[in-house]
Amino acid sequence: MNKIITLSTLKSMRDKGEKIAVLTCYDAGFARVLDAAGVDVLLVGDSLGMVIQGHASTLPVKLAEMTYHTRCVAAGTERAFIVADLPFGSYQPSPGHAFSASARLMAAGAHMVKLEGGAVMVDTVAFLTQRGIPVCAHLGLLPQSVNQIGGYKVQGREDAAAAQLIADARALEAAGAGLIVLEMVPAALAKAVTEALAIPTIGIGAGVDCSGQVLVLYDLLGLVPRAPKFSKNFLAGNDGIEAAARAYVAAVKDGSFPAAEHAF
Ligand code: KIV
Repeated sequence: MNKIITLSTLKSMRDKGEKIAVLTCYDAGFARVLDAAGVDVLLVGDSLGMVIQGHASTLPVKLAEMTYHTRCVAAGTERAFIVADLPFGSYQPSPGHAFSASARLMAAGAHMVKLEGGAVMVDTVAFLTQRGIPVCAHLGLLPQSVNQIGGYKVQGREDAAAAQLIADARALEAAGAGLIVLEMVPAALAKAVTEALAIPTIGIGAGVDCSGQVLVLYDLLGLVPRAPKFSKNFLAGNDGIEAAARAYVAAVKDGSFPAAEHAF
């Protein structure tokens, strides 16, 4: 339980079939509790723009804010692997922009950065990983593209879109991505992507067959007015936040979360 988690640990968990439990985290106090509860990966998600800052999307989040929250989470973490989101606008213009932004998050304590996008991000992923920055890619529903997509909708339902998503995942892996988040895609597609790759996939609204699961902490604690279909309130029926996080970790590891009702 006390062993420090690295990217190699996550890869070997995937190879052994041990599920990876991930939660978003935005400050040192929660980081201490989630770390003690056995959460493998803490994601400093740009979802903080919605759950902490109260915006309607993740688009207003700034790099300075992500850097601040990453430093807070790192201060409270002893063993978990820390992934930090590159916010909207900080990496899309060029691989050079992505490197400069990632360097700030890594200096603040991140062990890996996360960016959204498929084929269009392949060169950026190669640029970062060849220069020592591990990258988690994010496919399926891309919250930073919500205006382009037209809402928070399930992605990859049509055959062409599903084939494109699998091709994107393969290309990102070949470019050096170490993890791939799959958000709001049909469970069968997430399973196909997971089987097509040698790196771990982390699902959110993507069914039980991913290598691991992630939830937004505030959803897990029932702190949002309208919880998404794919989330579950783990505080209900558990005695406090650490117990809720332990129950989530146990449910991810034994495959009881997500259930069919949480999938598409
Ligand atoms: O920002 C975030 O919390 C995320 C998760 C939804 C995966 O990217």
